[in-house]
Amino acid sequence: MNIILLGPPGAGKGTQASRLVDGRGMVQLSTGDMLRAAVKAESPTGLKAKAVMEAGELVSDEIVSGIIGEALDALEPKTGVIFDGYPRTAAQAESLDAILSSRGRTLDHVIELVVDEDALVDRITGRYTCARCNAGYHDHFQKPEKEGVCDACGSTEFKRRPDDNEETVRTRMAEYRAKTAPILPIYEARALVTKVDGMADIAEVSAAIDATLG
Ligand code: AP5
Ligand code: MG
Ligand code: ZN
Repeated sequence: MNIILLGPPGAGKGTQASRLVDGRGMVQLSTGDMLRAAVKAESPTGLKAKAVMEAGELVSDEIVSGIIGEALDALEPKTGVIFDGYPRTAAQAESLDAILSSRGRTLDHVIELVVDEDALVDRITGRYTCARCNAGYHDHFQKPEKEGVCDACGSTEFKRRPDDNEETVRTRMAEYRAKTAPILPIYEARALVTKVDGMADIAEVSAAIDATLG
């Protein structure tokens, strides 16, 4: 099964993808996570992407589609994939079709996480992750069981994303509205889209996605 999680910054794409990885053994391909790894490694891609990401703008279609193709080639052909944060433009949607078909894969579902924009700034400015295992948390909505200790690995070191500030979030939302939301009709025309209420509790959102995937 190959699915896309689509929604604005803070909609819960990463949160839901990691629950699908745990629950179904699918693989999450997050272009944001892969780009952040490239920035950290100071690879040629990372050097090109760093300033663009810090401004909240979109990295070039060529770079992200290249990353996705390479990541798919590293997987067993039958592994189910969750595309998190890709595609984000019409050109990327077109590339994804070609990337999938050349590898004998088909797209099964597009889950649109529908959220209230006013809530997103709070979600994003409260977000942090474990510095060791990358598990995601939130100051109010998703605290570790023991304060200051990662549930998954026991680490006490956490980090926040440099693009998780209010100003950048506004740019990321504007990019979503201008370039990403317009690709939904492409998938609606193929009857692939299911709208899920992303304002519900994390577990309820998961349940709605599970019901769609069957
Ligand atoms: P990316 O990393 O994809 O960021 P994004 O789209 O802005 O989305 P986020 O990761 O911020 O949000 P999310 O939906 O994953 O929310 P999360 O689950 O963490 O991209 C970053 C940058 O990389 C882009 O700006 C661009 O520069 C570049 N880039 C990446 N892909 C690209 C592409 N394809 N093309 C071009 N450029 C690209 O949830 C947020 C918080 O809310 C968490 O703390 C969580 O605990 C909490 N939360 C989640 N769900 C709920 C809920 N139901 N109720 C309450 N709290 C919740
Ligand atoms: Mg994310
Ligand atoms: Zn951890």
